[in-house]
Amino acid sequence: MNDVMNTAPQASAKINLVKARGSLVWDDQGKEYIDCTAQAWSNNLGANDPRVVEAAIAQLRDMTHIRPNFGSPAHTRLVAKLREVSPASLNQMGFALHGSLAGEMAMKLAFKNRPGAQNLLVLQDGYHGRSLATLGASWPHPNNPFLAIQPRFTRVPHPNPYRTRLGLDPETESQLCLGLLEDTILKGVDGGVAAVMMEPIQGNGGHIEFPRSYYKGVREICDRLGVLLIFDEVQTGFGRMGTMWAADYYDVLPDIIVFGKGVGGGFPLAGILADDKLKWFDEGEEALTFGHFPVSLAAGYAAVEAIVADNLCEKARDSGDYITARLKEMQSRHPLIGDVRGPGLMASIELVKDRTTKEPACRESQEVYRLGVERGVLFGESRYAGLGNLIKVKPPLDIERPLLAKALDVLDDVIGILEEQRS
Ligand SMILES: Cc1ncc(COP(=O)(O)O)c(C=O)c1O
Repeated sequence: MNDVMNTAPQASAKINLVKARGSLVWDDQGKEYIDCTAQAWSNNLGANDPRVVEAAIAQLRDMTHIRPNFGSPAHTRLVAKLREVSPASLNQMGFALHGSLAGEMAMKLAFKNRPGAQNLLVLQDGYHGRSLATLGASWPHPNNPFLAIQPRFTRVPHPNPYRTRLGLDPETESQLCLGLLEDTILKGVDGGVAAVMMEPIQGNGGHIEFPRSYYKGVREICDRLGVLLIFDEVQTGFGRMGTMWAADYYDVLPDIIVFGKGVGGGFPLAGILADDKLKWFDEGEEALTFGHFPVSLAAGYAAVEAIVADNLCEKARDSGDYITARLKEMQSRHPLIGDVRGPGLMASIELVKDRTTKEPACRESQEVYRLGVERGVLFGESRYAGLGNLIKVKPPLDIERPLLAKALDVLDDVIGILEEQRS
C-alpha cells in the first residue's frame, strides 16, 4: 500500500525533516541542509522566526478556534497590517488556509461582480493550486482522473521570452499574445468573461516572466472590455521579487490579488485583496469553518510586521542581484545553463542539452537536485508542467550571504561534475 505522504515521486519525499531555523533545516539523521526551497517558497521570513512562534503560542494560549462570523483581535490586527502593505485601493480582504481556496475565493468574487459572465480566462502553463477549480485553471495535468468533476477554463497563450514562437522577438510575441487574448475575450468564448487570472511570473510552470508590455497590455484590454484582472501572487507576494508585490514591480494594479505562502511565516494562511469598487460577498457565499484560524492570523500579523521591519524587500533585491550575478558568471562557463531567471529571490536556471536547440536537460536537472542533497543543499525543482528542467534558488529572503554563497558554490560544483560526465 502506498504511504500517502510519499505519493509525490520526488527525492525530497525520502527526507524526513525534523527541525528548521532561518535558512537551515535538519533531517532525522541530524544532517543539515541549506534550504533553497523555503519549503515551497513559503518561508519568506526564515523558518521558526521567534517573533512568529511567540505570537502563535500567545494566541494558542488564549483561544485556538474562532468561527469566522465572530470578530477577533487577531483578525482586526492582521486586516489593519495588510492594509498598510496592500496596493492602493485593494483594501477589502478575505482569508483562507490555502492558496488554492483563496484562488477560488477570487474566482467567486469575480463572478459575483460580473453577473451573467460565463468564462474565466487563465494562461497556459499557469498554476493556481490543487482544489478542483484551481486544478482546472492550471496547466493540463497528465492522466488527470478528476476531469469529470472539474470546472473547465479557457487557457490563452502567453509570451515566453526564452522560447518565443516562430523566432519572434519577445516584444513582438508579447503583442501577438495580447492580440490573442483580446480575440479570445471577444470571439473565442460563449457568454461574457468575468476575469483573466494569471500569475505575474509563472512559478510551477517554469518561472516564466513576460515582457513588461504584456502586463500593461493585459490591464488595458481588461479595462477596455470590462473584464476583471486577478493576479495570483501566492508565490510572488510578500517580498520575493524585491518588492512587496509583483503588482508594484510591474506597476500594474489588478482588481484582485490572491496571496498565500509567505504571509503566514510558516503557518497556513492565504487570502485575497480586492479593490474597494468590488461588491463583497453576501452572507453564506464565502464561509469556511477555519477560515479565520486565529493562530494563523496572529502568526501572519507577526510575519508581515517582521517582513517590513527587517526590510526583506530590500534584502531580496540585494541577494537577488548577488544570485543573478553569480548565476550569469556560471552561465559563461557552463554550457548546461541555458537561461538565468529572476528577479529578486524568484531566481532559477534552465538547464539545456544544447543552447541552440534549447532541448531541456531533464535528467541533469534531477541529478543537480540529487547531488545537492548529498552535499547538504535543497534546490527547488520544477517537474510538474512545462519542461521539468528548472533549478530554483528561492531561499528565505533573509538568508545570510555566506549560506547563499555556499549553496551557489555547490550548484557550480555539481553542474561542473555533470558536464564532465557528459564529455
Ligand atoms: C501561484 C500559486 N497559486 C496557488 C497555489 C496553491 O497554494 P496552496 O498549495 O497553498 O493551495 C500555489 C502553490 O504552489 C502557487 O504557486
